[in-house]
Amino acid sequence: MASRRPSQFERRLSDRRGSGLSSRRVSIDPSRLVPMDRTSHIGGSDDFNVVFIGAGNIMFGCPEGPWNHSFRLEHKLGRRLKVVAIVDPAIERATAVLQKKCDSFVVSAYQDARVYKTFDEFVKNMTPRERPRAVIIGSPPMFRGTTQSGRDVEAQVLKHFPGVAMFIEKPVATGPLEELEQGFQIAKMIQDNKTVCSVGYMLRYLKTVQLMKKVIEENNLTVMTTIARYACAYELIANSNWWDKSKSAGPVIEQGTHFCDLSRYFGGEVDISSVQAHSVEWNENAGHLSKMSIDETKIPPENRIPRATTANWKYENGAVGCFTHVVALQDVNYSCEFEVYADGYLLKLVNPYVQPVLYMRKPGDDHELPYNFPEDDPFFSEISNFIDVIEDIEEDPEGSQILSTYDDAVRTYELTWAIRQASERSRTARLGTVVEEVTEKSE
Ligand SMILES: NC(=O)c1ccc[n+]([C@@H]2O[C@H](COP(=O)([O-])OP(=O)(O)OC[C@H]3O[C@@H](n4cnc5c(N)ncnc54)[C@H](O)[C@@H]3O)[C@@H](O)[C@H]2O)c1
Repeated sequence: MASRRPSQFERRLSDRRGSGLSSRRVSIDPSRLVPMDRTSHIGGSDDFNVVFIGAGNIMFGCPEGPWNHSFRLEHKLGRRLKVVAIVDPAIERATAVLQKKCDSFVVSAYQDARVYKTFDEFVKNMTPRERPRAVIIGSPPMFRGTTQSGRDVEAQVLKHFPGVAMFIEKPVATGPLEELEQGFQIAKMIQDNKTVCSVGYMLRYLKTVQLMKKVIEENNLTVMTTIARYACAYELIANSNWWDKSKSAGPVIEQGTHFCDLSRYFGGEVDISSVQAHSVEWNENAGHLSKMSIDETKIPPENRIPRATTANWKYENGAVGCFTHVVALQDVNYSCEFEVYADGYLLKLVNPYVQPVLYMRKPGDDHELPYNFPEDDPFFSEISNFIDVIEDIEEDPEGSQILSTYDDAVRTYELTWAIRQASERSRTARLGTVVEEVTEKSE
């Protein structure tokens, strides 16, 4: 018997829950995204138990950027937030962040939390009252996103707490490409279990991005091309793992992933076999960096990261996309731009990390007009939507939605791997040509 296609309502519900039936086209009316300082704590009086996996920067903040999930959860849930556990093998780090919270005015959310080295320890020691309603996963991606013991935290959550929601940071993994299939297996488990699951591609929640979606939807446009440029400021990147491909999988997979994801959000599925790419490597003249804050000589040469990667591809629907990632800027701010073209329209997102502005050109006018949304906080919006979907599953199908499902995020991961592979193939081919030329000259 042929399988039944999901109804529109089921699709909407699934989109909201993030369990993945059809999530790639979902959008939110930008006016529904409320800034954190203007939100009131979500209603209800019952405790909302949360487990944090990873006690690092994404969870508790750092000077490098505005991310800090604990802070957003405190604002969203108010006194209902009860952190029951922080899981991190770096016990001292976890204990220190917990102590800081307990010394602050949000103590009520943290006073009963316990620190565990592993998720397994938490499962073995928790009391029934500590059963989580949500697990927030911000451990490094090299320790998750697979079905292998010790790197399968998603499967462990699904096994021990079926039905409990998960928020998982991007990228879904950074292991070898051969493990990609395991990512799709996890996506299927999440779908089969109808688990609410959101992945941290927070740029999708920018009001500017949602306005772009709205313009495309309302004008019934077909995207012709996406052009993405992500130039990071490398001077302050002091985490040596980031500079080591064997740990981070490289800057396209670890960081440029945000813009590859935006590309897919607008362009649709990529024909992976069409991906082409080139890179500037660390040992090429053009790749010299004078202000690195780590000692790159400690990283084996084969694991050092490219300084620039440029890629292009065909989307399955015939549109084309291109993407450039650059490790060249110094100082603090990144320089990132993302353009979408459709008949008569240019939608250009500028500076999404610092002060997002959308420049829009429409038919009948040569000017690009700016659209600003001051105080927009996509990190709050993604957490806020995640909690709303957990709490309020039946109400208002047009309301809060999860914009990045696990399955969707695995597809972005697949694209970033395809870019890395294509650039490495091009390099190998080019080196082969150079060797041939040198051999010919010396003969
Ligand atoms: N969306 C964004 O803009 C954004 C920003 C920052 C980080 N991130 C993502 O968040 C994730 C974490 O990055 P970070 O900057 O917080 O890293 P981090 O190194 O600051 O923190 C990671 C923490 O996880 C702990 N850890 C290691 N293995 C673990 C395991 N098996 N279980 C639990 N904890 C474990 C480490 O001890 C460390 O304390 C990465 O995937 C990163 O890409 C996303």
